[in-house]
Amino acid sequence: MIRIRLFPALLAAAVLAAAQTNPRTSAADREAGANIFRSHCASCHGVNGSGGSGPSLATGVFYHGSSDTELYRNISEGIPGTAMPDQFFSGVQIWQIVTYVRSLSAAPVRVKLPGDAASGARLFASKGCSGCHLVRGEGGTKGPDLSFLGSRRAPAHIRQSIADPNAEVSPAYWVARIVTKDGRSRSGFLLNQDTYAVQILDFEDGLRTLQRTEFKDFGVSRTSIMPSYQTSLTPSELDDLTGYLASLERPRTDLPGPPDAAPAAASKQGKPKKEKK
Ligand code: HEC
Ligand code: HEC
Repeated sequence: MIRIRLFPALLAAAVLAAAQTNPRTSAADREAGANIFRSHCASCHGVNGSGGSGPSLATGVFYHGSSDTELYRNISEGIPGTAMPDQFFSGVQIWQIVTYVRSLSAAPVRVKLPGDAASGARLFASKGCSGCHLVRGEGGTKGPDLSFLGSRRAPAHIRQSIADPNAEVSPAYWVARIVTKDGRSRSGFLLNQDTYAVQILDFEDGLRTLQRTEFKDFGVSRTSIMPSYQTSLTPSELDDLTGYLASLERPRTDLPGPPDAAPAAASKQGKPKKEKK
């Protein structure tokens, strides 16, 4: 309700930035958008868009594009190669969601995290994290690539992932343990299975397809291979690691230059001002 008086400014920004402007920006449209958001988006982006397993939408930064046209596209089609799904809504409804999403960053909230990112980067190397995780091309591949984690997940979610890896384990990281009839034990991430065969990413051998007729024993564990760091890191070390990982942002696609060229840090300063404000 309070946000309504910000609309003239929002409209002006939208008109400047967009190839196609949002035709549905009334207070009623925003309310309709808010309702859809609560039922279809809040599970990942948090009730007020402040983030969760998905990023906060209230920071004023849209890495994948901030024009009306781009927001419309990202919300209706999803963002390929990421966890952002497509949505089956009418055009009018998508515009209403765009109006609501934009209102979330009318007064952008960039949370200042308590941790020291530079110290977090050092911990990431010294505590063995990089043995399993890639960051910008360096590290191991037993866990997810964390290169752009700060654009994918909210800080609280990142912190929890380190302290309690089992809180949420995506099926892509469930581990199959297999003993074959010749007595050999294997383990690896479970990729696929059907009635006859199981495909795993063997921790030692890489991609393997194994026939079930060869199995003596087969089990799937839904717990993470990542150890919990709840007790082996101090709370301030956890803050530092969270600060570091949250600082790993995507290059922004709406800035001049090739999409993947500009590192996130450089895109925040020293570039020609193309954005509003
Ligand atoms: C299954 C979880 C999930 C759901 C449901 C979801 N999102 Fe997302 N969304 C994400 C993730 C994860 C990203 C970050 C993609 C990336 O950059 O890796 C994202 C990105 C976005 C972006 C782009 C942010 C940017 O920086 O450019 C927008 C806008 C967005 N979501 C809006 C929505 C809206 C509106 C809905 C509901 C209609 C929704 N999302 C539903 C997970 C979700
Ligand atoms: C033995 C390998 C291993 C080590 C060591 C390890 N991780 Fe992980 N990590 C994983 C795996 C596998 C996952 C995915 C399953 C899960 O959610 O736990 C994961 C998930 C994560 C996630 C969540 C990623 C996302 O997309 O939400 C974060 C954050 C993370 N790890 C940070 C760390 C940090 C920080 C350290 C060091 C203190 C560390 N990891 C050490 C294997 C590891």
